[in-house]
Amino acid sequence: MTLVKEETFQQQLVAIRRHLHTHPELSYEEVETTASIRTWLTDAEIRIANYPLRTGVVAEVGGINGGPVIAIRADIDALPIHEETGLPFASRFPGKMHACGHDFHTAAILGTAFLLKEKEKELLGTVRFIFQPAEEKAKGALQIIASGALEDVEAIFGMHNKPDLPVGTVGIKSGAIMAAADGFIVEVEGRGSHAAVPEAGIDPIVISAHIVTALQSIVSRNVSALESAVVSVTRLNSGTAWNVIPEKALFDGTLRTFDERVRSRVRQRFEKIVHSVADAFEAKAKVSWIEGPHPVVNDSEWAALASRTAESVGLRVIEPLPSPAGEDFAFYLKKTPGLFVFFGTEGTKEWHHPAFDVDERALSLSASFFAALALDALKRLISKSQPIAKAGDEQ
Ligand code: NI
Repeated sequence: MTLVKEETFQQQLVAIRRHLHTHPELSYEEVETTASIRTWLTDAEIRIANYPLRTGVVAEVGGINGGPVIAIRADIDALPIHEETGLPFASRFPGKMHACGHDFHTAAILGTAFLLKEKEKELLGTVRFIFQPAEEKAKGALQIIASGALEDVEAIFGMHNKPDLPVGTVGIKSGAIMAAADGFIVEVEGRGSHAAVPEAGIDPIVISAHIVTALQSIVSRNVSALESAVVSVTRLNSGTAWNVIPEKALFDGTLRTFDERVRSRVRQRFEKIVHSVADAFEAKAKVSWIEGPHPVVNDSEWAALASRTAESVGLRVIEPLPSPAGEDFAFYLKKTPGLFVFFGTEGTKEWHHPAFDVDERALSLSASFFAALALDALKRLISKSQPIAKAGDEQ
């Protein structure tokens, strides 16, 4: 698809978003999506930066006279969900859908690149656009970091659409805005026996039931009322027949926390409960962790600056509640200060729902917001790098 010059900016972004929406690709498979993004950037004469990535694109605007580098990131992958929106531009690929609005993020941030390209001569540094693959697997950010695309970046910005916020609203929050999302797998090993002779065995089903129940005490008894955590067991498998006590049971699930200290305390209690309860029943237990992203922790200075920018472009700023979902933008923020915001795209369905949709009016609003934020952020970095004259210095 090529951009038609006469189209308004908003119409261009709608066309891009709908093209992506119709052709969703899963994590690590974003080949056509990558090709389309490259074409749209190249058509706008935006330079593609050369980083070793199989899928995903890094592009740059500005930097003609040096200056600091900032980054703006959009994620580009879709989900293994069968779309049920009934939209005329719904997914053409059964079982694949942009059900988290990454099509919206990609179109909006392309819009930011187009806007900044027009102001390239005014830019006091480089704006690097990161179109990141595999966010849904929480690994794409690590690929981008490994490619070196974050090495010289002094601040990084990103967003997630938010269906429960009205169009025209941006949610900006200092500190944690999204959760650490760790996974666990627990294996309880007992001893199999005839179901009629339980005393000859060690029943892993009864033991798992005790463990799952005891795990509920972590949030209620070990986490302060002023902090929060989630412990969810989402699957429990054991046994093959009604008259056999099995040897093993397996359960898995997820922990969500917003603070590294709470995260490590919850994990420590989890391990202790699993092993101690299993031990009390003379069984063995093994805990395996699926390390998820850290909490997404925003920088307070960038949050304050972005709030002023948002108001200057006519957006309403609210302080959102943090989301217990995970987001691999956290890996960037561990390396570089920055800000992750929620952008209002009012809709009736939450992320990952088969009828999820965004209000497209938010496309040009978010594109303009990030363009203004890039200009303000570069100004801030330049002014910070100027030496501050001390009182009494010769002028
Ligand atoms: Ni998402």
